[in-house]
Amino acid sequence: MWLNLASVEERLATRYIGRRLLYFTSTGSTMDSARSEAEAGAPEGTVVLAEEQTKGRGRFGRAWVSPAGKNLYLTLIMRPALDRLRSLSIVSPLAVALAIEDATGLTPRIKWPNDILINGRKLSGILIESEFSGPSPEYALVGPGINVNLDMEEAPEIAQIATSVKRELGRETSREELLAGFLNRFEQLYDGAAKSDAVHDQWRSRLDTLGRNVHVTFRDQVYEGRAEDVDRDGNLILVEPDGARRVIEAGEVTLRA
Ligand code: BTN
Repeated sequence: MWLNLASVEERLATRYIGRRLLYFTSTGSTMDSARSEAEAGAPEGTVVLAEEQTKGRGRFGRAWVSPAGKNLYLTLIMRPALDRLRSLSIVSPLAVALAIEDATGLTPRIKWPNDILINGRKLSGILIESEFSGPSPEYALVGPGINVNLDMEEAPEIAQIATSVKRELGRETSREELLAGFLNRFEQLYDGAAKSDAVHDQWRSRLDTLGRNVHVTFRDQVYEGRAEDVDRDGNLILVEPDGARRVIEAGEVTLRA
């Protein structure tokens, strides 16, 4: 079943997020479609949404499984000032987690920096890309993929490590409700993060990673240690075996045995 956009719009309570919605039945990647829109001057809050992606991509050059009509694939165009750019990687996973919780009662956790997990399996991932003009960001692209009504038998290649809302809940969920919920939460959290630390604290309290012994892979380097905390910018603070503290901006975490 295709998305009912009127039903998404009815549920929107935002001022600027999702007020312009571009909808594709199929596209290569919503990241690329959104990039063209951003280059052409699309206003902040524009959403590019697709029922299917033929070249959906994940972090580290991986593919993102993107069959038609089952899940949510979207990219949000933001135009943050430099001092708000980092808050996107805090706000985005928290907005996904809260939208899922609001719609289903499930309580997803966040794996630093921005994977959304349930029962240890990945339910959603987010790509964030930014484009600078000199020292200032011109735009940022926030692209969540959320496995909503995916039957895991349809995606055996990821069934061990990934899950869907349907699998966890045992029934289908309205994609319209989830999408509008995400956009509503995103605007509330993004505006809130500019005003107080509460959003950061809420994100931190959902992190699955803290206190664990981890490996973090970033740009061909592997760091090892205990994930002690996160700082105000969302960087991970790792305590290495010799006691040194290392601040890591981005990367992929694996739990150490
Ligand atoms: C990850 O690897 O965890 C990030 C996955 C991001 C997938 C989404 S789906 C919508 C948007 N378009 C893409 O091609 N990727 C992101």
